[in-house]
Amino acid sequence: MVVKTVSFGINGIDGYLVEVEASSTRGMPKFDLVGLPDASVKESKDRVMSAMKNCDLQVCSSHLTFNLAPADIRKEGAIYDLPITVCLMLLSGHIKKDTGDCGFIGELSLSGELRGIKGVLPMVIKAREAGLKRIVVPPQNAMEAAVVDGIDVYTARDILELKQFLNGKKALLPVKPETESESEAGRFIPDFSQVKGQVQAKRALEIAAAGSHNILMIGPPGSGKSMLAKRVPTILPDMSFDEMIETTKIHSIAGVLHGGGLITTRPFRSPHHSVTAVGLGGGGTQGIHPGEVSLAHHGVLFLDELPEFSRSTLEVLRQPIEDGKITITRSGQTCTYPCSMMVIAAMNPCPCGYFGDDTHRCTCSPQKIRRYLNRVSGPLLDRFDIHVELPRVKFEELRSDVSAESSQEIKKRVNAAREIQRERFKNSDTLSNSGINAAQLQKFCVIDKEAEDMLRLSFEKLGMTARAYDRVLKVSRTIADLEQCEVIESKHVLEAVQYRSLDRKYWEN
Ligand SMILES: Nc1ncnc2c1ncn2[C@@H]1O[C@H](COP(=O)(O)OP(=O)(O)OP(=O)(O)O)[C@@H](O)[C@H]1O
Ligand SMILES: [Mg+2]
Ligand SMILES: [Zn+2]
Repeated sequence: MVVKTVSFGINGIDGYLVEVEASSTRGMPKFDLVGLPDASVKESKDRVMSAMKNCDLQVCSSHLTFNLAPADIRKEGAIYDLPITVCLMLLSGHIKKDTGDCGFIGELSLSGELRGIKGVLPMVIKAREAGLKRIVVPPQNAMEAAVVDGIDVYTARDILELKQFLNGKKALLPVKPETESESEAGRFIPDFSQVKGQVQAKRALEIAAAGSHNILMIGPPGSGKSMLAKRVPTILPDMSFDEMIETTKIHSIAGVLHGGGLITTRPFRSPHHSVTAVGLGGGGTQGIHPGEVSLAHHGVLFLDELPEFSRSTLEVLRQPIEDGKITITRSGQTCTYPCSMMVIAAMNPCPCGYFGDDTHRCTCSPQKIRRYLNRVSGPLLDRFDIHVELPRVKFEELRSDVSAESSQEIKKRVNAAREIQRERFKNSDTLSNSGINAAQLQKFCVIDKEAEDMLRLSFEKLGMTARAYDRVLKVSRTIADLEQCEVIESKHVLEAVQYRSLDRKYWEN
């Protein structure tokens, strides 16, 4: 006798269909699993048999063979516990109804309860594309699965409840997507208006947000660098539905949704400086996992205390920052994850933090400062379009009750600038000014004679690299967009150049 159930696997950020077939033939009781299962899938056998036994479900005593098709893709994870169990229940006569319209994904405990797994959202999207009517997922994954329209998502506590449901003996309701909790009252909401002074840094962050430019903030301890970075998501444009799905998919695959549903706000990832290259870029020994750069997709990656990160770890960032995606190869497996993010980095100007400060004396030797700054390589530094210095906040500024501009107001201008960019790039892959390619630079970043003369002067005076030159043009474009100016004027270029002068001040003496 042969039975079949439908399940899924993950490749990159997309799901694919896996057919689980099972046959029982007469002979010595045996349990074979074929179809390129990795070690974690092979362990299914023990979990499934124990779950069946502990739920008093007799298993037919014959030679059982399970096949996971397509057989040429390696299967990993504990996803297949559930479809294998359903096959077993079909073979042993515990389930009497057809289950062909239903998909199954989930791990089992030894006592037969369903346990959460990673990557449920992309798998459910694939189930809907494949035309399935129903899918059963573990309770922990119900909310992310319910995000998908056009397929009924069910969840069961254990395999006994599932058996009753599939036999039509117990009615279960499809899971409904959660609606956003309205209880915002009393909750602390970060806002730009809470940051006093730092007008220049705020302006720089607004420009960075408007063009999705990477930005580096340098300043003494307590000047508000971390505070400002955390508030950047509040001035970024709202996410589109497609962006929400893409970001949630990655978080689902990484297993960091923690029972939540659709991610509707831009992610803010702030990995500790002890993060490894694998943690930052992605990879792993058991299957490939997305790293922090991909978890920050469509949001912000914040690198606080930049020089404290190991230099080799930071070098991992160079390629994904340029490409907006990262390809990871590990033990013969290759996989690509998107990582379109805005990188914000913060650092002190020296190890003690007070170099250049007018009230504290810096206690670092020039060599010590140089060693500290050199932990950030030139090519990485070049990738920050905007460098901004934060002075210490003055007492009068802290005490002042003049209320600063709110995130909402800044966001309005950011949104307007993004609208111009959307129109500009509608027939290309470019998402924002920071991603302008060489051909587009010629077309969209035209500057007038006066601006050109000025730029030539700064190029020579500041010893800019070709990359820095391109970046200045792109930032000028964003500044002009914020003012709704079609042509880039010299004042826009002047401001953009000013955001490139810190590398001279700190790194080249
Ligand atoms: N501009 C500011 N306006 C209001 N409060 C501020 C400002 N700057 C700093 N603070 C206060 O100081 C605290 C520390 O600021 P923050 O952590 O952002 O400093 P930092 O620049 O990141 O310092 P470090 O270099 O030590 O990491 C904030 O939590 C806030 O309470
Ligand atoms: Mg800080
Ligand atoms: Zn110092």
